[in-house]
Amino acid sequence: MSKTIIITGSSSGIGKAAVELMSKDGHRILMLSRNKKTLEALAKKNQNCAAFPCDLRDAKAVAQTAKIITKKFPQIDVLVNNAGVGFPTRLDEIKEKEYDDIMDTNVKGLVFLTREILKQMKKNDSGHIINVSSPAGVQANPVAPIYCASKFALEGYTQGLRMQVKEEKKNIRVSLVRPGGVDTNYWGKREAPREKFMTPQEMALVLKFIIDYPEQSNVFDITMESAR
Ligand SMILES: NC(=O)c1ccc[n+]([C@@H]2O[C@H](COP(=O)([O-])OP(=O)(O)OC[C@H]3O[C@@H](n4cnc5c(N)ncnc54)[C@H](OP(=O)(O)O)[C@@H]3O)[C@@H](O)[C@H]2O)c1
Repeated sequence: MSKTIIITGSSSGIGKAAVELMSKDGHRILMLSRNKKTLEALAKKNQNCAAFPCDLRDAKAVAQTAKIITKKFPQIDVLVNNAGVGFPTRLDEIKEKEYDDIMDTNVKGLVFLTREILKQMKKNDSGHIINVSSPAGVQANPVAPIYCASKFALEGYTQGLRMQVKEEKKNIRVSLVRPGGVDTNYWGKREAPREKFMTPQEMALVLKFIIDYPEQSNVFDITMESAR
């Protein structure tokens, strides 16, 4: 069955691979990330994809984009909260902007986009929210501790959200996925054994599995790692 799916962070890496796979599967994809040109180029190349440029750090832009999307598409079936940033931070030298960039993208933007889309899902009594966390959301590391803090926050938020919709007896599923090392722009110029990492296409397959899973059950969470 064809679904209407929002994918954030769709301009590169895991999100882009998911757009390409889901579009081939015949779904309608609403792509959200900052780079308008990249999104428009993707929309041209892939069937049934629409571009919604938006900076998740900007609460007003998030509310506006959600309003446009929900007005145009009265049935959002899936929201994949995939956009995220991470980079090394020294805790004794951390700058406020670095903190805000990570937390506002990975947590605040995600929370307020979800709030708006959830209103429609509750009205329809149907929907599926998939949050992209990280193994760094359950086991911290000394390299990127604020990134870890953002993903720990996302793990707690996801658990709470799942419980709230269950308590309200809403037909809404909440899943979480933790990609292991994936060869994407996330790594920037940092030294990393990227040739041993998973590919974004392999992660897109995990998202497909969760999205396609029969509605009677929910994929609670999945952690992935490379076997290379
Ligand atoms: N790669 C890994 O090894 C790995 C491991 C564990 C978890 N993850 C998680 O996987 C997710 C996807 O990352 P990726 O590896 O595919 O990285 P990526 O290639 O760098 O993609 C990140 C995406 O997020 C978008 N984005 C960044 N800041 C944004 C903002 N303020 N507003 C809207 N969109 C924004 C980017 O597009 P624009 O720049 O155009 O906005 C881009 O499309 C992230 O949540 C990341 O934490 C990745």
